Amino acid sequence: MRISEQIFPRVVALVVTISKENKPNVMTASFLMPVSFEPKFIAFAISPQRYSFKNLQEVGEFTVNICKSEMKEQAIICGSLSGKDKNKFELAKLEVENSKKVKPPVVKNSPISFECKVEFMKEFGDHFLIVGRVVEEHIREKEFKPLLHKSGSSYLLL
Ligand SMILES: Cc1cc2nc3c(=O)[nH]c(=O)nc-3n(C[C@H](O)[C@H](O)[C@H](O)COP(=O)(O)O)c2cc1C
Repeated sequence: MRISEQIFPRVVALVVTISKENKPNVMTASFLMPVSFEPKFIAFAISPQRYSFKNLQEVGEFTVNICKSEMKEQAIICGSLSGKDKNKFELAKLEVENSKKVKPPVVKNSPISFECKVEFMKEFGDHFLIVGRVVEEHIREKEFKPLLHKSGSSYLLL
């Protein structure tokens, strides 16, 4: 049984990274958790097979953009295609705006976005654990229903 079918539901986020040539990419992540209140730290797990992983190695910055339930289709697009040969921002109709303190942009459709700098990165089995220090946050909506993931194509709505 997959661990994602054993520990759920998990909040879904869009993680935005950027290459050293300044090309941003977006991927969906639900292996995500808060780590510290003050200062704020966020952790997520990423497979080294993701194109986003290469970006993270090149530029140690990312943004975490929480998905509300209305963003399910966008989460599916960003979680099933690789940014290596596709522009997922266009395909998923995601609007972005410049971050204040990091290079990767934030997603405007998201109710809450965090700008993060990588503080820790270590391989655990088939994923790498990434811990990011939150250096800026954007709160666009305080009342929203988060999109929740179980495993594969199985989601839960509040
Ligand atoms: C709901 C959902 C959650 C996902 N969570 C993760 C995750 O936490 N870590 C991960 O490495 N991949 C996760 N994925 C898979 C990646 O989003 C997917 O492989 C994506 O195409 C990678 O994009 P990239 O190659 O452009 O980086 C998830 C996919 C979906 C649909």
